[in-house]
Amino acid sequence: MKATAVAPSNIAFIKYWGKKKGKEAERLPANGSISMNLSNLATTTTVAFSKKYKKDSILWNGKKPRERSFQRVIRHLDRIRELGKISERARVVSINNFPHGTGLSSSASGFAALTVAGSGAANLQLSQKGMSILARRASGSACRSIPSGFTEWLDADSSDESYAVSIFPPDHWNIIDIVAITKKDEKEISSTEGMSRAETSPFFEQRLKKMNKKITDCKKYIKAKNFTSFGNLIEQEAIEMHTVALTSNPPLIYWYPETVLVMKAVQQWRKDGLESYFTINTGHNLHIITEAKNQSNVIKELQEIKAVREIIANKPALGARIIEKHLF
Ligand code: DP6
Repeated sequence: MKATAVAPSNIAFIKYWGKKKGKEAERLPANGSISMNLSNLATTTTVAFSKKYKKDSILWNGKKPRERSFQRVIRHLDRIRELGKISERARVVSINNFPHGTGLSSSASGFAALTVAGSGAANLQLSQKGMSILARRASGSACRSIPSGFTEWLDADSSDESYAVSIFPPDHWNIIDIVAITKKDEKEISSTEGMSRAETSPFFEQRLKKMNKKITDCKKYIKAKNFTSFGNLIEQEAIEMHTVALTSNPPLIYWYPETVLVMKAVQQWRKDGLESYFTINTGHNLHIITEAKNQSNVIKELQEIKAVREIIANKPALGARIIEKHLF
């Protein structure tokens, strides 16, 4: 059987950085997290299982992925085969409409799309919760790309309870995520590897103590559409996550000079009355969050910065879903 899915990437406002001790293989996060699905950063994937395939084949943006990514996809196909009690090999074709490995969470959209298409092709009939759990096992942040809009990945000690739910639909709040791409180089250290060092930072324990309050506050501000409180919270949260990364052993410096340049520009615009805030994942590209009314002014400002090579504006989006148009 064959199925195709499209899945959005997501931007974490309250971030997943570190796994629970002893639960790394199941990808149980050290804390819950909050994110928003992004309308213009998406992965489309078609999966077919068939007896006619002698081995699994994967084409990702027209190429075979690197060995490590290839093996990660195969492991996920094996999970799907195990749940579906099938042994057929698979053909997987996937396209991203944005650069991968640069901090734009391509593993979130990629593994969410693979999960939904693979489950469809294997006829798994999973609930949204089951789908989110399955996606999480491939890449933690992928579980948040399954439900729609603004989502929360619940903090839990067992795999069965560690999944994401929609906390508000996409049309709840008209905020925009403007991605400023300064470099398309792939990051050297993946999120998986980077966060495995989190607990070597002297600040990690401190951070964990505050996460429940941050999550409560973030949900409160989104509900009330309190943009100023929300923006200050998420900018501080991004810097805090990177502080843990920077103070890990060995240290992780994901930023480039261009990254800091754009960060400082955002803070200056704010002083000048253009309200926007940045957040950043593992990588060098920034996400600038603003209200829809300020979208064109933020884009105009970004266009003035020479280091910014590409700009992608995103609205809150639906979660992963099956589509009819196959890639092969
Ligand atoms: C900085 O979900 O890519 O983007 O579970 O090991 O695959 P694995 O990690 P991944 O980590 C994402 C980290 C982050 C923050 C976030 O999205 O919450």
